[in-house]
Amino acid sequence: MNVEDYILMHGDAEPDYLSAINRKTHQKILNPRMLSGHLQGRVLAMFSKMIRPDVILEIGTFTGYSALCLAEGLSEKGKLHTIECDDELEDFIRKNFKESPYNEQIELHIGDAKNIIYDLHDTFDLIFIDADKREYQTYYDAVFPKLRPGGFMLIDNTLWNDKVLDEDGRRDKQTAAILAFNENIARDTRIEKLILPLRDGLTLIRKK
Ligand SMILES: C[S@@+](CC[C@H](N)C(=O)[O-])C[C@H]1O[C@@H](n2cnc3c(N)ncnc32)[C@H](O)[C@@H]1O
Repeated sequence: MNVEDYILMHGDAEPDYLSAINRKTHQKILNPRMLSGHLQGRVLAMFSKMIRPDVILEIGTFTGYSALCLAEGLSEKGKLHTIECDDELEDFIRKNFKESPYNEQIELHIGDAKNIIYDLHDTFDLIFIDADKREYQTYYDAVFPKLRPGGFMLIDNTLWNDKVLDEDGRRDKQTAAILAFNENIARDTRIEKLILPLRDGLTLIRKK
């Protein structure tokens, strides 16, 4: 048994509709490892329940797993917007949302987040960024004005399989982008920030 197995044995199980998405994603979809999974999913759900957001934005839906974890914390009339650019995933995602208790509270947007962000006119209490690593700074700059003061942002994969520590990291475009992004976040005085060493690194941000 490893430490993650131990943690999972002593925490909450995944709801059935989430374990079904996990299983179907591994059976039918390319790159199933992109899915947040049991441990990170429970962390996202717990953060969302602590924040109790009215409006959430997610960038990078994939098969809907993390969106449904975040939706667990929504206020009673709360809403979650999630953006996915791969239109081949649309039917699979919509079916997954329909089989959950949160379908009515979720709005799926199919298209490039870099465009769709500008069509959304809400102010967000919680934003989760988990899409193309090379575009993190672009997403961040676009969503920052839409995050309410005191609101939170969670950003996935910011340790990038520990490649951020790799001397040669700057040669690979995704690692170089994550390194530059992390440096900009460290210097940004408008926020409080912390990289949590969970899975592939999860940056927690609070807008002052
Ligand atoms: C790591 S996966 C997301 C995993 C999901 N959040 C979860 O935890 O289950 C990243 C997703 O972002 C999508 N994506 C990449 N670039 C995007 C963009 N510019 N706009 C919207 N979605 C994008 C990809 O197609 C992919 O499905």
